Amino acid sequence: MKKEFILKSDKDTKDVGQKIGKLISSKICIYLCGSLGAGKTTFAQGLGKGLGISEDYYITSPTYNIINEYPGPLKFYHIDLYRIEEVIGLDDTGIDEIMNQENAVIAIEWPEILIKDSSYSYDLKIDFSMNEKFVRKISIISSGRRGANLLKNLLL
Ligand SMILES: Nc1ncnc2c1ncn2[C@@H]1O[C@H](COP(=O)(O)OP(=O)(O)OP(=O)(O)O)[C@@H](O)[C@H]1O
Ligand SMILES: [Mg+2]
Repeated sequence: MKKEFILKSDKDTKDVGQKIGKLISSKICIYLCGSLGAGKTTFAQGLGKGLGISEDYYITSPTYNIINEYPGPLKFYHIDLYRIEEVIGLDDTGIDEIMNQENAVIAIEWPEILIKDSSYSYDLKIDFSMNEKFVRKISIISSGRRGANLLKNLLL
């Protein structure tokens, strides 16, 4: 299944993240694809809010530390693979353990190296793009039943 939305502001990006977060009640893996500054981290902030992560945590880009972990009703892992060039480079990060964890919510920026590797899979893949006037659009693709059920229930 595929759905597309226009996101006119930073708030729209957070809101769609929050709506998806509210629909999540069990393990899920979301790939966040799109160019620099497209809105992936902004989306992750909304997602954290929708998941019920405490407002005491400010969700920031994990570009340097690769994985940020937030406690909540479900553990939220915000991952950024920008600096990882090959799947082999994931060995030291603990990502494989996280992917196998029950009830983890995983959102991954720059997941292209995982897309190329058949041992990794996602429930939702969100492509963030911008037109020539910098208006953002997202296209959300689901894979499998869990992703499709969630996407079916997402109404903006
Ligand atoms: N729909 C939108 N319309 C306009 N600006 C937006 C929108 N969504 C997010 N932004 C703004 O775009 C900027 C970059 O957003 P963000 O950091 O989320 O991008 P990113 O995709 O995570 O970038 P990076 O690739 O560097 O990690 C921020 O200032 C954010 O507030
Ligand atoms: Mg980011």
